[in-house]
Amino acid sequence: ATNDRSLTEKILKLKEEKSIYIIAHYYQQEDIQDIADFIGDSYAMAVAAQKSPQDTILVAGVDFMAESAAILCPDKTVLTPEPKATCPMANSISVDEVLKFKEKYPNSIVMSYVNTPAEIKAVSDICCTSSNAATILKKLPDDAHIFFIPDQNLALNTASNLSRNVNIYDSDCPVHAALKKTDIEKLKEKYPDAKVLVHPECIPDVVKMADYVGSTSGIINYVNNCDQDTFIIATESGVTYPIRQANPDKKLIMASENMICPDMKSITLQKIYDSLKNRETVIKVPENIRLPAAQALEKMIAYTS
Ligand code: 13P
Ligand code: SF4
Repeated sequence: ATNDRSLTEKILKLKEEKSIYIIAHYYQQEDIQDIADFIGDSYAMAVAAQKSPQDTILVAGVDFMAESAAILCPDKTVLTPEPKATCPMANSISVDEVLKFKEKYPNSIVMSYVNTPAEIKAVSDICCTSSNAATILKKLPDDAHIFFIPDQNLALNTASNLSRNVNIYDSDCPVHAALKKTDIEKLKEKYPDAKVLVHPECIPDVVKMADYVGSTSGIINYVNNCDQDTFIIATESGVTYPIRQANPDKKLIMASENMICPDMKSITLQKIYDSLKNRETVIKVPENIRLPAAQALEKMIAYTS
């Protein structure tokens, strides 16, 4: 399906005609990144939705990304080209488990990763993404009892650096958590001068080997601003596309060839075309869930900026 020029042209024409703003994540296929009005990490995507000049937005990313846009923009129509594209880690924790924790520790703060469904955000005090988890954690009271859900690696990597005590939830991202310390060690033997760039959803043993730890945008910016010419990339392979475009002479080595998110990659140009044409599928979040979820997301944005 890649390099389908006529489909690309049809999409570009249709989105102009229908005045639809396309927001894509860096893990999207290359031909999708090419037709997007905005590409970003999950934080930047949420803010871009709020600022979008058009009233209809198509989100090329997994379900929680489109849902965040719908939560933050009640007056806009948010479309997903593939409602089945989800994040298995985001769906791991139940509302019941969060409520039970809150009952047990009434003064605790529930800090939920944006990789969660709207129902979980609605019972959270604040959200975070991989780009702002540390900034937010630093702003919470020193003695706060924090339940940091759902990604245990993001929670461990962030909290241990800040010497904060957090309760974690036993779940992780299958794409990032499968990467092992030995995968990096082997590559470092072959490329001793390479800088190792790691997403915080990787296990702490891998994060300890990093020259830089950060969100997808953070990793891309690091390469763009670094004089070094070889980089080991420990996140989903989609980030290499914008990096290669901006740095054609730099050498990028994927930390593992298995770092491909099947849900992110289930979105195709054809699905985007159909979604624009039929204005489907509209993301709807019931108002009783949207309002408290919006509070947690807005608080995150306020604490970040
Ligand atoms: P970013 O917030 O870095 O874009 O990450 C989102 C994600 O799903 C990582 O796997
Ligand atoms: Fe979820 Fe991992 Fe895919 Fe990101 S890469 S969307 S955390 S499964």
